[in-house]
Amino acid sequence: MSRTFSNIKKKLKKKYFVNEKYLILNGDAFKILKQFPDQSINLIIADPPYHTTKKSNIIGDKDFDTDQEFINWIEKFIIESKRLLKKSGSLYLFCSSKISSRLEVMVRNHMNIISNITWTKPNDPGFDGWKQKVKVENLRGWYNYSEKIIHAEISEKGNLGNSYFGNFLKKARQQSGMSTIELAEITKSYGKINHGGAISNWEAGRNIPSLNQYELLSKALKKKSKIKFPKYNDIIRPFNLIDKKNFTDVWDFPNVRPYKGKHPAEKPLELVDHIIKSSSFKNDLVLDPFAGSFSTIKSALKNSRIGIGIEIDKNLCKKSLVEIGSKKIKFLSDYNKQPKNQNIVYEGLFKNLK
Ligand SMILES: C[S@@+](CC[C@H](N)C(=O)[O-])C[C@H]1O[C@@H](n2cnc3c(N)ncnc32)[C@H](O)[C@@H]1O
Repeated sequence: MSRTFSNIKKKLKKKYFVNEKYLILNGDAFKILKQFPDQSINLIIADPPYHTTKKSNIIGDKDFDTDQEFINWIEKFIIESKRLLKKSGSLYLFCSSKISSRLEVMVRNHMNIISNITWTKPNDPGFDGWKQKVKVENLRGWYNYSEKIIHAEISEKGNLGNSYFGNFLKKARQQSGMSTIELAEITKSYGKINHGGAISNWEAGRNIPSLNQYELLSKALKKKSKIKFPKYNDIIRPFNLIDKKNFTDVWDFPNVRPYKGKHPAEKPLELVDHIIKSSSFKNDLVLDPFAGSFSTIKSALKNSRIGIGIEIDKNLCKKSLVEIGSKKIKFLSDYNKQPKNQNIVYEGLFKNLK
């Protein structure tokens, strides 16, 4: 089991549901996240209340009188996310098109923006909300039919267009006194156009070295500088695209079809799978602080990642436990007994946890 996962569990002070592969926490994300250690999470998928939709069936959606108050609230969360994410971590923030540009400007002050993704919903007729019913001749603007997902990574000094790894590499290379050309020779990473181009691309955060190139690179630089090179997975932000369909920043995923008990903002599992598979490695820790139907945790389990979900609505937490397939809820004192059973979820106080 991941050592970071154990550390997180040990630090938490509230009642919770846990087994070896996930952690479900009921309460206010802002209060709970404060207890998490620094740089403990690989990927954050955050789908907070949208504010602009003003849905009465989503807690928090009507809490803010002005857009600015909402943006300030999300900013607090972004600052916390930056503390929680590993240097190789990624953040995906869902938001409505109506406020995404203002949110993006705010996120840019703290992190490096990779993309502002447009999620379109190619729903079958009859399953596309008001789109079929709208009177086109009455519209006074373009009918809003997409949502936005802001994708950001850790950057040392706000949004400089450089990833954390890019800055780190540049510093290490400059300390070693090597030029990009010399380093390119050693790591056999020639750019296609400019000699030494691959190194400058890595430094600029445009692309990344392979594991083999990283090993050659760190070996060469370690000889000439005192900089410690972290493990590849801890510094290189994962990005593995296998879905040939949704490789652009416009994603087509149909909405979740209505069913009894559906969460009003439930995200399609395929969409969450797409994020988790592309932006994390197996066994990584994936956090969803506004979990709703716990789609992120379900996808994390399906894709062999460890999922941590926080949700303010206790009923949603209990419902998700049943859906995830937890057959029994036992007291935490049993958790420390071996062997641990994947189908059992344990409830109790953190302080007793081994
Ligand atoms: C947009 S929904 C998330 C939907 C989710 N992505 C899904 O696929 O089902 C936002 C969720 O955040 C929860 N929420 C609102 N304020 C919260 C807070 N301060 N801490 C934790 N959860 C909160 C709401 O109850 C709601 O379920």
